[in-house]
Order: sequence, then structure tokens, then C-alpha cells
Amino acid sequence: MKDEFNDIIKPYLTDEFYELKSIEHHGITRYDHSIRVAYYTYLVTKVLHINYEEATVAALFHDFFTDEVDEEKSIFKLRRHPKYAIENASKYVDLTDIQEDIIKTHMFPITFTPPKYLESWIVDIIDDVSAVYEKAYSLRKEISAAMSFIFILVFYCIK
Ligand SMILES: [Fe+2]
Ligand SMILES: [Fe+2]
Repeated sequence: MKDEFNDIIKPYLTDEFYELKSIEHHGITRYDHSIRVAYYTYLVTKVLHINYEEATVAALFHDFFTDEVDEEKSIFKLRRHPKYAIENASKYVDLTDIQEDIIKTHMFPITFTPPKYLESWIVDIIDDVSAVYEKAYSLRKEISAAMSFIFILVFYCIK
């Protein structure tokens, strides 16, 4: 399964896509987040026997933006980045209706238009679950680093 997933995404792992490795996103990189969302989309849509190749490619591109919206205020960034991701993805893939809908609506309900297709709902939910998991994981790392620091500090104070 992993081989098939790699074959699907391989043509799109361009230099521009690799730039996402240098952008922080939910405490990890935007590249890692995109691969995670694409992989779980692949697994779920494959099991459900729906358009898994289309959905996987769209999921890979759902946050495909670099600095177009990074300087904007947070809520605008949350609402507008799907538009930039569609524009950027269109350079590499002739997006189908389903793929465009997946990218456009993946921030629903923050963006107001609901997904039209089952594949879009799946990516929306996987993206949300991944974001919560990634944020919690990075916070846990920060908290354990802070606890270690406090522990060392206390240790030296009572020594
Ligand atoms: Fe997003
Ligand atoms: Fe995302």
C-alpha cells in the first residue's frame, strides 16, 4: 500500500513542493503535514473504493502555499490559503472538480462553503484530526522540555 501511495505522489514532489519543508505548520513542517494528510486520505478513500488517486493528489496539495498568505493576519490566512493552494497546484495538475472542491473546502467551517463530495469531507476531517494531533504532539514536546528545564533548575537549587 505504501508503494502505491508513493507512486501516486512521486510526480508532484517537485522543488517547489520541497520548499514546504522549511515552513513551520502545526509545530511540524508543512511538508510533513501534507504528506500525513495525503497518506490517511489515501488509506480511507482506498478502503471505501472511491476516487483515491484524485483524492490523494488533492490532499497532497491542500496546503500548497509558501509565502503568499504568511504575512496576512491569521483568520485571513485560514480563509484564503485554499485559493492560493489551488492556483499553485494548477501549475502541476489539471485539477478535476473533485480535486478543486477538496482543496477549496478543506477549511470548512472556517471557510463557509461546505464540501460537495464525500472525498472532500474525508480530507476536511483528516486535516482537522491531523492538525489537532500535530499541535498536541508539539505542545507535549515543549511541555516536556520545559519540565526538564525546571527539574534541572530545582536539582541544582537543592544540591
Ligand atoms: Fe489548510
Ligand atoms: Fe492542512
